[in-house]
Amino acid sequence: MKYMTSQEIRDTWLKFFESKGHSIEPSASLIPVDDPTLLWINAGVAPLKKYFDGTVTPKSKRITNIQKSIRTNDIDNVGKTARHHTFFEMMGNFSIGDYFKTEAIQFGFELLTSPKYFNMPLDKLYMTYYPSDLDAKNEWLKLGVSEDHLIPVEGNFWEIGAGPSGPDTEIFFDRGEKFDKRGIELIKEDIENDRYIEIWNIVFSQYNADPTIPRSEYKELPNKNIDTGAGLERFACILQNTNTNFETDLHYPIIQKIEILSGVKYEGQMAFKVISDHIKTLTFAISDGANLSNEGRGYVLRRILRRAIKYGKNLGFNEPFLHLLVDTVIKMMQSFYPQLISTTSIVKKIILKEEEKFFSTILDGEKHLLNSIKDGNLNGKEAFKLYDTYGFPIELTLEYAQEHNIKVDIEGFNEELEQQKQRSRQSRKVNATMKSQDEAYLQFDEPSTFVGYDELQKESKVIKVFDNGIVLSETPFYANSGGQVSDTGLINGLPVKDVIKLPHGQHLHIIETDSFEIGDEVLAIVDENRRLDTMKHHTAAHLLHQAIKDVIGSHSHQQGSYNGPNKLTFDINHYESLTSNEILKIEKIVKEKIADKLPVVTHVLPIDEAKKLGANMLFGEKYGDIVRVVDIDSWSLEFCGGTHVKNTELINNFMVTSVESIGSGIFRFECIAGDIINQVDNLLINLNEMIDQHINKIKNIDSSIKINNKPEIIGSFQDILNYRQYLEYASNLAKQTEKANEDLIISNILKDADSFIPENLYPETYIYTTNLNPSSLKPLIDVLYDKIKVDTLILINESSDKASYLVKSGKNEARNVISRINEMTQGKGGGRPDFAQGGTSNLNLLKTYLKGKI
Ligand code: ALA
Repeated sequence: MKYMTSQEIRDTWLKFFESKGHSIEPSASLIPVDDPTLLWINAGVAPLKKYFDGTVTPKSKRITNIQKSIRTNDIDNVGKTARHHTFFEMMGNFSIGDYFKTEAIQFGFELLTSPKYFNMPLDKLYMTYYPSDLDAKNEWLKLGVSEDHLIPVEGNFWEIGAGPSGPDTEIFFDRGEKFDKRGIELIKEDIENDRYIEIWNIVFSQYNADPTIPRSEYKELPNKNIDTGAGLERFACILQNTNTNFETDLHYPIIQKIEILSGVKYEGQMAFKVISDHIKTLTFAISDGANLSNEGRGYVLRRILRRAIKYGKNLGFNEPFLHLLVDTVIKMMQSFYPQLISTTSIVKKIILKEEEKFFSTILDGEKHLLNSIKDGNLNGKEAFKLYDTYGFPIELTLEYAQEHNIKVDIEGFNEELEQQKQRSRQSRKVNATMKSQDEAYLQFDEPSTFVGYDELQKESKVIKVFDNGIVLSETPFYANSGGQVSDTGLINGLPVKDVIKLPHGQHLHIIETDSFEIGDEVLAIVDENRRLDTMKHHTAAHLLHQAIKDVIGSHSHQQGSYNGPNKLTFDINHYESLTSNEILKIEKIVKEKIADKLPVVTHVLPIDEAKKLGANMLFGEKYGDIVRVVDIDSWSLEFCGGTHVKNTELINNFMVTSVESIGSGIFRFECIAGDIINQVDNLLINLNEMIDQHINKIKNIDSSIKINNKPEIIGSFQDILNYRQYLEYASNLAKQTEKANEDLIISNILKDADSFIPENLYPETYIYTTNLNPSSLKPLIDVLYDKIKVDTLILINESSDKASYLVKSGKNEARNVISRINEMTQGKGGGRPDFAQGGTSNLNLLKTYLKGKI
């Protein structure tokens, strides 16, 4: 084995799997997207769940990544062992319904042992497998692993929270007796040790874990998959031959910095390790938009920060120091995680602020803690006071308690916590009246700047807290206006649900406000994809507007619009309905302007100059003295405060999906732009279903009929036209087939008519048939009535579980006869005196009634 830096390890990993046909996915944010089941991204597979469970089909079925991850379930071990962390990087390779056990194990073997890659001696490697999974064992044997290095372990089933899971094979590296004299019983019996380091876990991922049900009830995933995870820090420890992960290049620079700041020499003390681990977690999580607060993710971070401070005190830190380590973390990690650079200063500020808060109370808190102990016990009230007044997370109090042999009344603590929550819920209810809110809005006139034309992420400051949201000094969040929907995203990791404009123009971010105070430094991050999709639609709307004018005339003006991430609507006035040709022409122009890759530029200029340019303005809209004009190749010029793509090329694609009259000479265009067009078949779903119904009908009647293929979908308004036309074709064909079928049935009946027309015809004559198509009965009775000339003819048709009866009468008896039959058979029905019909499902009564009549 040769020394490798952590960057060399990452490169070796990614390049190896790339050479085996894997595509490289970048590390996802630590904050899970659209996955409420996870607090943090905690493994390489976590952001890929959408592929594993079949929600999204990946571009490549083979993926590799290096995923930053946070796990806090082992937090007590962090610093105690050589290899536990709350923040770590997981190297992984994944197969989504592609290769399985054989290749996964072969890849693992080659990468670990080949001199071209990590070159680990085979005799140092041990593998565990699920006892019944002899296939896995045999794969290892075939590759030359000796039997005594293969260990069956009952617990070899990987799952962590909801999502992909399954039996696994784990690879351990033996660091030798120096770390523990005991042998492989350490692995067999799962004994905590620093000798055999689990470096890689290969999961044969088959199930979708759901922590709320027993494992035996987990659903199978749509495919058999491979999910693997190898700890970068552990690889570094082995390849850099260090005592623990903390002396590798992934931690040692931080430890050296702590030495400098504290003046204490590092000799393996736990405090150094805890701080080094925790500052990485804090830096990465805050940089990804998480915050510190009293619940959920924010609470985990608060706990981690306060735990780090507690250990810092052991090294003599009596004032904020953690923020001083952030630069070191970023310097070490920025080449692989360049986004850390842009958030450096906000991360430092947030950490410093939290440190200050805690340091100002920690000494008093500790004193309080020690004073409150009665006979080795700390009661719930006091534990709550430590939490509420001194900011001691309960876990931290428990850690202190353990060190000092104190028992803590947790139940009492939880009761106090619950009571406090009740109180705050009640007080919020009283305050939140709409009226006082409106007044507060009106009175608030401090300026706030919108910077979201160019920036989607901003370090900013809270300048106002309302009951329902906050205002920032500067914000990248667009507020609903000019037809463009507001942005969503995160402020310090909390979701921004909506953004509205206040009377004085500031943007109010609708958000849970408990965690904010005026003056707070925050990191505001707009949901980039949603914004980009919205911008595509908004720019497309400008192109559409001009195209409409070009095709149907400049009398046509914008009457209203909506620009969102999934569609745009655009209302215009015109004196008649638009023809399909006009709509197609308009669509074509917009598509051409997209293909022409035109730059979209904005001018900010005095209103008179803007008018001189001939820019379109909305009738009745009030504009200020200085206006913003969005200019696309001088062809489209619009007064507009919205956000737009920088070049029409970025819109990528465009389709009109409908044009409808919404009354008084106003027509509404509905259109889609961007990648969403790929889902155009969804739009056609209703038409498609109707078409399929008709086709099924035809096939049921006559499977030999040839039906044209459905038109291909090309992503244009032409699709809608084609589909409508095809629907008409299918429905006509269905009607014709049905008619032909009925004619055939009747002619067959008539052919046989003589055989079932009774010889002795009575004025009231009954004819009995079975299993005729209901739609054939009326034509049949008409023909029969003409043919056999009686006063009243009754046609009974019995099918499997019911019977229907039709009565035709020249003597106006039809209704009477129906009533009589209904009465005798518990049936239903009625009609005119000359023709009536009914039905019953009581076939026995009908039989009795008909006795002697047929
Ligand atoms: N997802 C598996 C793990 O984290 C590979 O260990």
